[in-house]
Amino acid sequence: MHSKKNNRALLQCLALSVYPMMMMMMMIHLSCVSSSSASTFFKPFNVSYDHRAIIIDGNRRMLISAGIHYPRATPEMWPDLIAKSKEGGADVIETYVFWNAHESIRGQYNFKGKNDIVKFVKLVGSSGLYLHLRIGPYVCAEWNFGGFPVWLRDIPGIEFRTNNAPFKEEMQRFVKKIVDLMREEMLFSWQGGPIIMLQIENEYGNMESSYGQQGKDYVKWAASMALGLGAGVPWVMCKQTDAPENIIDACNGYYCDGYKPNSYNKPTLWTENWDGWYTTWGGRLPHRPVEDLAFAVARFFQRGGSFMNYYMYFGGTNFGRTSGGPFYITSYDYDAPIDEYGLLSEPKWGHLKDLHAAIKLCEPALVAADSAQYIKLGQNQEAHVYRANRYGSQSNCSAFLANIDEHTAASVTFLGQSYTLPPWSVSILPDCRNTVFNTAKVSSQTSIKTVEFSLPLSPNISVPQQSMIESKLSSTSKSWMTVKEPIGVWSENNFTVQGILEHLNVTKDYSDYLWHITQIYVSDDDISFWKTNEVRPTVTIDSMRDVLRVFINGQLTGSVIGHWVKVVQPVQFQSGYNDLILLSQTVGLQNYGTFLEKDGAGFRGQVKLTGFKNGDIDLSKILWTYQVGLKGEFQQIYSIEENEAEWTDLTRDGIPSTFTWYKTYFDAPDGIDPVALDLGSMGKGQAWVNGHHIGRYWTVVAPKGGCQDTCDYRGAYNSDKCTTNCGNPTQTWYHVPRSWLQASNNLLVIFEETGGNPFEISVKLRSTRIVCEQVSESHYPPVRKWSNSYSVDGKLSINKMAPEMHLHCQDGYIISSIEFASYGTPQGRCQKFSRGNCHAPMSLSVVSEACQGKSSCSIGITNAVFGGDPCRGIVKTLAVEARCIPSSNTGFSQI
Ligand code: GAL
Repeated sequence: MHSKKNNRALLQCLALSVYPMMMMMMMIHLSCVSSSSASTFFKPFNVSYDHRAIIIDGNRRMLISAGIHYPRATPEMWPDLIAKSKEGGADVIETYVFWNAHESIRGQYNFKGKNDIVKFVKLVGSSGLYLHLRIGPYVCAEWNFGGFPVWLRDIPGIEFRTNNAPFKEEMQRFVKKIVDLMREEMLFSWQGGPIIMLQIENEYGNMESSYGQQGKDYVKWAASMALGLGAGVPWVMCKQTDAPENIIDACNGYYCDGYKPNSYNKPTLWTENWDGWYTTWGGRLPHRPVEDLAFAVARFFQRGGSFMNYYMYFGGTNFGRTSGGPFYITSYDYDAPIDEYGLLSEPKWGHLKDLHAAIKLCEPALVAADSAQYIKLGQNQEAHVYRANRYGSQSNCSAFLANIDEHTAASVTFLGQSYTLPPWSVSILPDCRNTVFNTAKVSSQTSIKTVEFSLPLSPNISVPQQSMIESKLSSTSKSWMTVKEPIGVWSENNFTVQGILEHLNVTKDYSDYLWHITQIYVSDDDISFWKTNEVRPTVTIDSMRDVLRVFINGQLTGSVIGHWVKVVQPVQFQSGYNDLILLSQTVGLQNYGTFLEKDGAGFRGQVKLTGFKNGDIDLSKILWTYQVGLKGEFQQIYSIEENEAEWTDLTRDGIPSTFTWYKTYFDAPDGIDPVALDLGSMGKGQAWVNGHHIGRYWTVVAPKGGCQDTCDYRGAYNSDKCTTNCGNPTQTWYHVPRSWLQASNNLLVIFEETGGNPFEISVKLRSTRIVCEQVSESHYPPVRKWSNSYSVDGKLSINKMAPEMHLHCQDGYIISSIEFASYGTPQGRCQKFSRGNCHAPMSLSVVSEACQGKSSCSIGITNAVFGGDPCRGIVKTLAVEARCIPSSNTGFSQI
């Protein structure tokens, strides 16, 4: 598929990349891509569509797409993420374009590092995948301000996302910039690039009615503006029922099988299949069971869908201050098939891989048929049959059998054969006869990830442990240094005006923090009034977001947290002049909703001091001094360059302390496992490693209740179902990408607002150490086995193949031991398996023999493999728990 010129370059790349070390491969891969700036990745091809599907180079296609947002990972992570998406069965990578990442200052574009979108698109192309580029440029995405640069609010007369000339001008300028960039880099399909589709706007249909006729006109304008850019590939608008005829409207949601586009000439696309959900500070962790997710996907293709994108396939991390709001956490893991750290989440990734393979087996029939034949199989059971034509051969017939009953399995008869369908499931029959996959039968492994202690950053550990790692620590600083952040004014760059200013108008979002400083005179009469009447003066604000901290005479006296909540904060004054400081903070700007330009942050309505003898003091009538940001931010105290901060040694009795900077140095842990900082001992703040902004941190605990003991996949999913982590801090581990670390002397700087113990911060390694799997005789043989045989012989019988267990460790790891193995009727689940009444004595030896010392292994689920039938007439299951360890730690050679 590559052009000749590029083939040669690619061969050179490949020749160089034979080194087994993954890191080395990544680096070579990256340099290959960047060196060929105008290379083509495919023979140029056209993309069009009809009512059934996207048409690529003349052929209708059934497409699986994996959502990955480039700035939520590092360029060093991209090749592996794309490779894992491809291996998982994706044909397409989908990403938004993040306007405020590329143009945080108007007219100054940034396409470097995490924002190197051209490199990202080229990596997608070089891996042979297509790309769906969702330019927006409003993207929502739990991203700060929905992707809008904050300066956009300052353009005179601007109204976002409506028929407003200043807005349209800016929007068009950026969209054109991106389309032109992609064209210059030869990245559209007709140029031999991977881009097959674009998106303009994002879910505007949810907002449109608030804008009346202006909203309708805006939709028309956005469509024709986009088309006018001459990108030469189809444009999509998601959730836009009035999308014009030449733009495809698409569905977003947990289920899209009932979706029909607004014209017969358009295919059914699903731009966001929410395979998990995002998380707020203090919230539980969402989990969408893979049986339900697979059900939703299978139902979509069953009922005529032809393009489905996982939002997200890899969610990643909101580094820096990129998290949107209100209150979105730094992790954007999303319960996606690839976790925040780039490791596979199993069984999600594996089960979906099987699903994709099953759908691909049906692709010839799915694209050949203009529509499905519908057969009702029972009250809640139905079949959709796809054939090239009514009289088409058996081998060009594929069918999906669904049981949408939430509770019970069903036996159905389809084309003369009987099938058992588990509740809330779809069986896929690529030849209209054999079931190769059922969405509710998971035979992929489960992976248990552990976060292992690597290095403490200080010698605050028990004596035996300390002696064990003392030597390692000698190369790093054992100590923490500290410097206090001034409360209030810290530079000449402050100003004094009467009244309360809108937060974003002052900060321009250069910082989360805005200091409001004033003085309040308190008379002796006031003091005695408070005593006699047992009242306290109180700061009251009609409405506030996100965090307010109140300081009286330099002391933090109260904090209020909320999203447009009323503030009633009692305070204590002395007689005479008192310093009153209100620190307003943002924790990610609003990314969803109408009229975002008016939304703002900070305080709204009346701001008063109540409870005084002579009545309330209207704080919006007095003088306030404003100071934006922190001194440490301004000094770039976190930078590896020299700066003016006056650090002093931190003593253990100096903690916990509010509004304090801390720093230390640490060595990178050995190996290639992803690295996390455990900041669970800290309160709220931000962290930097070697000058890279890791993100905000905040140790807030999720509610104790609301997590179910068992997660039942059956029935419609919503983000409150199957949540985990009740009663624990929402986030304590913060991803530090490997490429931001050097071997030793890594600078860690923390800004802490509320007080925490830096001596307990540690560096952790994340890896998959336990893999488990349960496969029974009633499972289907591996889908991949059908891929080879099915199209040759449509009559292949299911009896000729046995189900299989397939275990694998993450890259660089091997199976060191089998902790549990039982072929028979084992009970329980991963890490809690036990033998049942029926157990083949050879179970452990068979599995150990097949797996130990290997990075992956397969075992057939048949009596013969286990030395005969351990219990006649009973359905047997093999349950295995295996331990994975780094291959470098063992005498085993990797296989
Ligand atoms: C959608 C939106 C996405 C994302 C998602 C929730 O409505 O289009 O950008 O915000 O919700 O994760």
